[in-house]
Amino acid sequence: MKYSGYAYIYTIGCQMNVYDSEKLASILNSYGFEKTGDMDKADIVVCNTCSIRHKAEEKAFSFLGRFAKIKKKNPHLITVMAGCVAQQEGKKAFDRVPHLDIVLGTRAFSRFGQHIDSVKSGKKRITDIEDSGVIYEALPDTSCFDENKVSRFITIMQGCENFCTYCVVPYVRGRERSRSPESIIEEITLYAKAGVKEITLLGQNVNSYGQKEGQSSFPELLAGINEINGIHRIRFATSHPKDLSMELIHAIRDLDKVCNHLHLPVQSGSNQILKKMNRGYTREKYMDRIMALKEQCRGIALSTDIIVGFPSETKEDFTDTMDLLRQIEFDSIFAFAYSDRSSAPAARFSDQIDEKEKLVRLNRLLELQEYYTEKKNKEQVGKTLEILVEGKSCKKRDGLEQSFQNMEQMAGRTQSNKIVHFPSEHARIGDIIKIRIENAYPHSLWGHPLGA
Ligand code: SAH
Ligand code: SF4
Ligand code: F3S
Repeated sequence: MKYSGYAYIYTIGCQMNVYDSEKLASILNSYGFEKTGDMDKADIVVCNTCSIRHKAEEKAFSFLGRFAKIKKKNPHLITVMAGCVAQQEGKKAFDRVPHLDIVLGTRAFSRFGQHIDSVKSGKKRITDIEDSGVIYEALPDTSCFDENKVSRFITIMQGCENFCTYCVVPYVRGRERSRSPESIIEEITLYAKAGVKEITLLGQNVNSYGQKEGQSSFPELLAGINEINGIHRIRFATSHPKDLSMELIHAIRDLDKVCNHLHLPVQSGSNQILKKMNRGYTREKYMDRIMALKEQCRGIALSTDIIVGFPSETKEDFTDTMDLLRQIEFDSIFAFAYSDRSSAPAARFSDQIDEKEKLVRLNRLLELQEYYTEKKNKEQVGKTLEILVEGKSCKKRDGLEQSFQNMEQMAGRTQSNKIVHFPSEHARIGDIIKIRIENAYPHSLWGHPLGA
């Protein structure tokens, strides 16, 4: 059916959820609902949820809690809980959020439209957490894209079968399935035509892309995407260290559009903890991959994820993680205090770490990394780097030379994913320009366009 009205989508969680929300927006658009940034104006509100840590889940429930009040004002409003918490909770979601109309699991998108029709015809409390058996591959509607967004995500595979003991993803995203290379290439070509310059390929473990289906390997897929006209940069996440092949390292080195940056989550520097996490590699194996990357891809930027306070993590285990940071010198890290998830096995492990102690370790780790992030930034000063211009800069620098003071301040990213602010009269969003880096700050760089 076709309706008319506005849709408000609130997204929590990872890049995959951002991409999923765009798919939901496309479906809603095809049903006649235009996207709005004003919740009060909406005829349908969707909360796309994340359950990776307790905090993310609470954020979802606190947003959903507002539905009761808004529904009182507007009884025709359709309320939807989508994504990972929806998948995890199913019907139980109605106990905490009685004013919900639809609970839409992570693999039920193809039936979203049908459920809207049912609500419109009077049906109440619909739950769909069934697996469709196929990947929802419908192309997004680029007409609802923000034309200023030159960098986009695309999910290339669903699910995860690694079962790290702390993680909910295998339970809420189901088994691993790869999209066909043809559908991925078709979708990216569509993006390129809509002005997109940079693409980030998403999967929980992109290194095992296509293996189950016996189709192209991940490096082969990268080679195919490298040929798409209009796309200038290719990024991907996440790469699992246990499956990082030499073939992929060579693809990063040899394919000109693949950025010289790798996000390689290590989680812990202690072999004891890595084993309990079921990560499938040792610290030595991880180090071996890092050495290969540094050797083959000169100047590669490296980032990682770390969990502190995993059950039974001793002070020595934590020291091993701190040492690993000193040894590798990552460009940036994402660090988290371990959060108990009842569906993941680690929730039943003994020797849970005290919450206060987790925070002490987290802060020490972040403090140490601050030093390396700034050090890596300082190493860029004096270099000329290629920047993809992403928008106007929200930062104003004091003490600029007279000639720059009245110019527009713009911002973009380097291949290594560092933010660069610069003054320019001519730079437009989507341009790729060369900038000479003049200053380094803890979280950004500042420079002059070449020739300015
Ligand atoms: N598939 C990716 C990561 C997905 S989740 C990978 O394997 O690396 C993103 C990050 O959240 C993880 O890398 C991990 O560091 C963190 N994370 C996952 N579960 C967590 C939990 N229970 N508590 C704290 N952090 C967690
Ligand atoms: Fe979670 Fe591990 Fe799968 Fe990553 S690889 S999504 S951390 S189970
Ligand atoms: Fe969260 Fe689901 Fe992503 S749990 S991190 S939104 S896969």
